[in-house]
Order: sequence, then structure tokens, then C-alpha cells
Amino acid sequence: MFDLRDLSRGVVAAPMAGGPTTPDLVVAAGVAGGLGQLAAGYLAPDKVRADIAAVRAAGTEAFGVNIFVPESQPIDRDAVARYRAELVPYARGLGVTLPEVDDLGEDDDHFDAKIRLMCDERIPVVSFAFGCPSPDVFDELHRHGCSAGVTVTTAADAEIAQQAGADWVCVQGPEAGGHRSVFDRRTTPPTLSLDQLIGEVVDRVPLPIVAAGGISTPDRADEVRSLGPVAVQVGTVLLRTDEAGTKPAHAAALADPDRTETVVTWAFSGRPARALRNLFTDRFSDAAVAEYPAVNTLTGGIRRAASSDPDGINLWAGSGFRDAVVEPAAETIARLG
Ligand SMILES: Cc1cc2nc3c(=O)[nH]c(=O)nc-3n(C[C@H](O)[C@H](O)[C@H](O)COP(=O)(O)O)c2cc1C
Repeated sequence: MFDLRDLSRGVVAAPMAGGPTTPDLVVAAGVAGGLGQLAAGYLAPDKVRADIAAVRAAGTEAFGVNIFVPESQPIDRDAVARYRAELVPYARGLGVTLPEVDDLGEDDDHFDAKIRLMCDERIPVVSFAFGCPSPDVFDELHRHGCSAGVTVTTAADAEIAQQAGADWVCVQGPEAGGHRSVFDRRTTPPTLSLDQLIGEVVDRVPLPIVAAGGISTPDRADEVRSLGPVAVQVGTVLLRTDEAGTKPAHAAALADPDRTETVVTWAFSGRPARALRNLFTDRFSDAAVAEYPAVNTLTGGIRRAASSDPDGINLWAGSGFRDAVVEPAAETIARLG
């Protein structure tokens, strides 16, 4: 089974669903001596299979695939209806008709089919976000030679992951860009610093640790690894690299001197996520409800209609966004390793 301790550079490229992660980015991370991860979230299994084939066709054998764990709490339809009513005039201004609340069903993002795919393809590293799979999922992955990890935001969740059968944990701190991997979407994401969180997990969970959240410079990467993690996981700092599939409006906003602030918001997806502050977060963060994936589907048409408008889309960004530069991803990985 793949062991993260064997990486020649202790750097993992974060899986970034929604476009930024491409097979080319995964390959570049691997070639540079780190570990790349495909982002299977939101994708149909056939698309994930095609991305896996593209990575393998480029000669990369060691890589990961990231999967979203289905929600444990049912959707509160009244809450979704309230938020939908807030969004209707805005959507109308964009010429977008919002889906009806009754059409926003529970959606498990093809979880079972994706687990079968990981097993069939014997994916070296499988990582999970938004929750912890049951022990039988880990057993099945292990039978097929997959090393499986879970992204956690508390030491208690790291213990849950270990008890379920995880081989490693990704410890995600409060500065992370994109979604916080809280197991309960209605939880206010913990604000304990990454360094303190690593300390707690090291004390309580004897598993290899990958650490994520706001890491964007070589000094910071060294500092974090010196606390015990076998690798750092970086997302935001890769968003402007040549191989990333980041929307041009998002990539440009990361370098825009007028954008100085990130906020944690449920407004786009119904799960807490760190993004550059923009007009959408200003207007809707207070009204937003913690009802993923219904809110994610609800806002999908709005985000597609506004895809070139940095004030209308989710500009996921961690606190180190200013260090994201245009360059080959291998250079970023090499600098941080
Ligand atoms: C654009 C973007 C998309 C992300 N998508 C995912 C994802 O699909 N799965 C996941 O586990 N983490 C995802 N994350 C979170 C990363 O795994 C990681 O925790 C985060 O990028 C670390 O913080 P940093 O962005 O400051 O480096 C995403 C982050 C960003 C910036």
C-alpha cells in the first residue's frame, strides 16, 4: 500500500473540485516528487474514470482521488425555501430561474459508485472530505490496496477516522481555502490554529498526518512539517499555476490588489468555505443556510451565469492567496518541498 512517508517531497497537491484540479496538475505534482490528487467531487463516475486514465496515460502511478462523503443530516427544506426567496430577485437579474425546493433532493454525489471505481482501479491513495466513511468502506478499499485518509478539522474527528480504519488524516486548519471539512455542515468551523490542532492530533492519533490550511511559503511549509506532519497539503497556492483549470475570473481575483480579505461563508454551497470577499458574499452570507448539497445546486445556475464576474462566483481562497503565482506547478511543489 502507498505510504505518504515515501514521498520524495513532503507536498500534497490539494484536490480542488469544480475545475481547478486537472489531470495535468496531478501529473505535475507527481513528477515534482509530491502527490497529486484528482477531485472527484461533483463529477459523474465516468468523468472520474476518464481523469484517472489521463493521469495514468501520462505515466503517473502514485496519485490520489478525493471523494465527498454524503451528508449525515437530512435537508431542512424550509430553510432552503427561505434562502431561495432571498436569491430569487438576484437570479432574475441574471436571467436565471432557480430550481424549485422540491427538486433539490438529497444527493450522495455517486458515493457507492465512486468507491467501486476506486477499488476497480486500485487507486493508490483515496481521500475523503465532509465526513468519515463507515469501517466497511475502509475494509473494502484496503482489500483493493488503496491507502485511505480523511480530512478532519478537530482531534475528535481524527480519532473517529482512526477508529473507522483510516490510514492517515489530513488535518485542516482555519486558514484553508475552499470548504472546511467539518463532519456536520451546521457546525461553526473550529478556529483553533493549525499548529495547535496538529499538536492535539499528534497527541491523540498515531497516524501519519498531512497538514493543510494557509500554507504558501517554503518557511511555513518547513515549520508545519517540523511539528510532525509527513507532508503539507496546498491548494490556493496552486490555483494560478499553468496546469490548474481555475476560472480566469477566479485566478485574476487572487492577484487583484483590491481584494484583500477572505471570509468563511455558507452562501454558495450550504457548507462553510473560505473565499475572497466579494459582492455575493457581502449580500448573501447572512441569509445563507447550512443545507449542502441543496444550496450548492440552488446557486449553480447563478454561478454559471456569472462565471466571468468575480463578484458573482465563489472565489475559494486560503489566507496565503497572495503567494499564488503564475508558473509551472512543479516549481511551486519543488519550492514548498
Ligand atoms: C478551489 C479549492 C477547491 C477545493 N476543493 C476541495 C475538494 O474538492 N476536496 C477537498 O478535500 N478539499 C478541497 N479543498 C480544500 C483543500 O483540500 C485544502 O484543505 C486547502 O486548499 C488548504 O488550504 P490552502 O488553500 O490555504 O492551501 C479545496 C480548496 C480550494 C482552494
